[in-house]
Amino acid sequence: MNLFLSLFKLLPPELAHKAALISLNILYKLKILNLLFPKFKDQEYEFLGMKLKNKLGTAAGLDKDGDFIDCLGALGFGFLEVGTVTPKPQNGNPKPRVFRLFDEQAVVNRLGFNNKGVDHLVKKLKSKKFMGIVGVNIGANKNSKDQKRIDDYIECFRKVYKYSDYITVNISSPNTPGLRDLHDLDNIKNLILNIENEAKLNNFNRPIFLKVSPDESAETIKSIADLINLSNLTGLIISNTTIDKEILHNKKNIDIDGGLSGAPLMKKSTEILKAISNHNPELPIIGVGGVMCKSDFNEKINSGASLVQIYTGFIINGPKIVSEILN
Ligand SMILES: Cc1cc2nc3c(=O)[nH]c(=O)nc-3n(C[C@H](O)[C@H](O)[C@H](O)COP(=O)(O)O)c2cc1C
Repeated sequence: MNLFLSLFKLLPPELAHKAALISLNILYKLKILNLLFPKFKDQEYEFLGMKLKNKLGTAAGLDKDGDFIDCLGALGFGFLEVGTVTPKPQNGNPKPRVFRLFDEQAVVNRLGFNNKGVDHLVKKLKSKKFMGIVGVNIGANKNSKDQKRIDDYIECFRKVYKYSDYITVNISSPNTPGLRDLHDLDNIKNLILNIENEAKLNNFNRPIFLKVSPDESAETIKSIADLINLSNLTGLIISNTTIDKEILHNKKNIDIDGGLSGAPLMKKSTEILKAISNHNPELPIIGVGGVMCKSDFNEKINSGASLVQIYTGFIINGPKIVSEILN
């Protein structure tokens, strides 16, 4: 497996990502995935009415279109989050747009919500075999502004809610211009109201999370947490990638545009997680950002996360990270 990981590291990042997931899917279909990555004992956990095999899940972006749900599920994740999905398919930003910084165990990406659109994702959700928890992360198309942006979230919500164990409203990608303006309290109030109405109309009473940026102050996120508390939404996912490259050791990379994830993000995202959890101990929080090993996972849990997600740790260390964290 280490040989495969080394080979994938030689490929351009997006090709490597695709090739790795396709390989996992082939192994899954040949029914030999679990010979290479043996299943381990479930660590059953109930959270907000969801019955999970364990507390470790995939973060949004790893499987944007839901094309790899069954093979990722077979690796032993307790839950998967697919998306971000937008109403219309879109190509995202020009390539190159993903940069792996192996010496810092980090990635910078400026993909810009490339995805096959919500109708494709719904087909995948309808045909999946994985019986575990699958959340859907929803967003807005690049060219949708103001009320049209809100309408995009609602359109995605309406199309995916029947097939989602939970829904994440993503307001924190740094690669869709203006999206992070939704952290502004008036804007977020309007979005929350619209989502609440849509959930009510459809009798959707499963969890709804808001995924926030680590680049906002703890005070802003606390105010957002207070709004969530007063609403019918459930909790927060803390956090998305950061645009702060000053936290990199190797200063030659600080000019790469995009969101930084992986090891350098751990401290920043966990500090916000801790601040919000202390401010509001009852608020359900999913922790994500910089989890590269078991002790990082434990730190997120000890800082107030009920569940933890990974993305960059999976890319840099390969699928064995799942059993390393959970065993
Ligand atoms: C290549 C790449 C694509 C991503 N795409 C999305 C996305 O579509 N939606 C989203 O909410 N987060 C996305 N993220 C952010 C991750 O879900 C996660 O919040 C962030 O990477 C921090 O976790 P990590 O350090 O474990 O990677 C993406 C991250 C990466 C590296």
